[in-house]
This record gives sequence, structure tokens and C-alpha cells, in this order.
Amino acid sequence: MDALYQDRKLVDVYDAINSSREDFDFYISELPVPPATVLDIGCGTGTLALDIANRGYEVTAVDPAYQMIARAMQKDTSQTVTWVTGFVSDLANNLTFDVAIMTGHAFQCLLENAQISALFEAVEKRLRRGGSFWFETRNPASRPWLRWTPEYTAPPFDLGGGRTVEVVHQILRVNDDCVTFEERYNFSDDNKALISRSTLRFLELREIEALAVKSGLIHSQTFGNWSREPLMDDSPEIIIRLMKAA
Ligand SMILES: C[S@@+](CC[C@H](N)C(=O)[O-])C[C@H]1O[C@@H](n2cnc3c(N)ncnc32)[C@H](O)[C@@H]1O
Repeated sequence: MDALYQDRKLVDVYDAINSSREDFDFYISELPVPPATVLDIGCGTGTLALDIANRGYEVTAVDPAYQMIARAMQKDTSQTVTWVTGFVSDLANNLTFDVAIMTGHAFQCLLENAQISALFEAVEKRLRRGGSFWFETRNPASRPWLRWTPEYTAPPFDLGGGRTVEVVHQILRVNDDCVTFEERYNFSDDNKALISRSTLRFLELREIEALAVKSGLIHSQTFGNWSREPLMDDSPEIIIRLMKAA
């Protein structure tokens, strides 16, 4: 697993680096009126799961990265969310949800079709009839990795107490639909940079659709950005709603 999800020092700065999230408002606005049950898949440090739980939903959040779940649990001082280290398939078969979400491009961590099919099948089993599975993946047609280079480095992120961290990206390999890159974390108070390497898969909508249909889910809606505009070649996102038949 990538260092950024398992190294304590990198997990601790995840929220500061990922603080402006227009996707959260989108996902919240697509939820049914509470009370309803929500499954957050690849929940990371749990910011969205906690926000949803505070709005009156019953939330279960799963992530295979132990350190991400540990950080999420630390933030959940009122114990509002059920946290699980693992995959959807680790949840009991009789647990069912009105909605499942997978945010922050966590879907792109699934590198093999078999992993995606296993996810879709596990979600299909645990959705109520008529339930929705919302997730997004970066649009391969817009080739966002061309900007994952040192020249596009963002200004350092504020960590409080005068500390900052700069994150410098470097592409290592583009292989078919998989992009492997390195992130170098330069902390203002530490001369030794921490390095994380990741591979993400960039699937096209028709490929995702084909895998979903095989798993018994119905493709219901697609958007190209968080303002709900249609998917175009230059859209940054492919935002997808799959449904279980009513
Ligand atoms: C970029 S983070 C997104 C976290 C959170 N959903 C958010 O929106 O901030 C990607 C997350 O996906 C998780 N992940 C990696 N492989 C996964 C898999 N096969 N299934 C589910 N989650 C996975 C990682 O552990 C990590 O927490």
C-alpha cells in the first residue's frame, strides 16, 4: 500500500493537504433525506463520513489502510460512525445500505478488473433495492497526469504552529491505463523528505459500465464535474451513479 496511506507522518498531514473539497457538497446533496444508511468505501481519514453522520445518517466507513482508519477514529470523539479496516466484502452480508459512496478518487486505487468486479459485486449485495452507489474517477481523456510534475507544485500547505509541507509530484511511468508517480513531501521542519509511490488506473466510462453491468448494477447517471455538467472530453471527472434495481 502507498506510503501516504500507511506512514503515520503522511497520514497526519492528509487533511491539511486535502482541505478544499467541492466533491463533499456534491455527495451530501445526493443523499436521501435522513434517516438513511450510508456506506463510505475507502473513507480515508473519515472527514466526509463524520460530516454525514453529524447530519443524522447511520454511517459505516471502510478502508483497507489501518493508519487512515486510526486517524478517522481519533477524530470521531462522539463515536458517530462504525469504522472498519478492510474491504466491503469484509462486511457482514446482512448489513444493507441505502447509499454507498467512494470519494477522493479511491476507485482509481483498484488496478485490476477483478478487483473492480469484486467491489461492484460486494456493493450490489449490500445495497437495498433501488439503492445508489456514487463514485468518481479522473477522466483519462483530460490526461491530468501531465500536470503531475515539479513545475506544477502547489504552494506549501500550512500545518499550523509555523510548520508547512510542500508536495512535489513526478511521473515515473505511464503504462496502458495505469499511471505510476512519486510524491515527495518536503517538511519545513525536517530536512529529510518522505516519499510515497502510487499507481492509479484511469478507466473510461464504457469500461466501468461494462464491469458494473456484469455485476448486476445499473448505470443511472454520469457527470463531468461537481457542477453536474455533462461528461465531455475535457471534463476533469467522470462522476458515476450505479443503482441496484428496485
Ligand atoms: C485519496 S484517498 C481518499 C480518501 C477519502 N475517501 C477522501 O475522499 O478523502 C484513497 C483511499 O482509498 C483507500 N484504498 C486503497 N485501496 C483501496 C481498495 N482496494 N478499496 C477501497 N479503498 C482503497 C486508501 O487506503 C485511501 O484511504
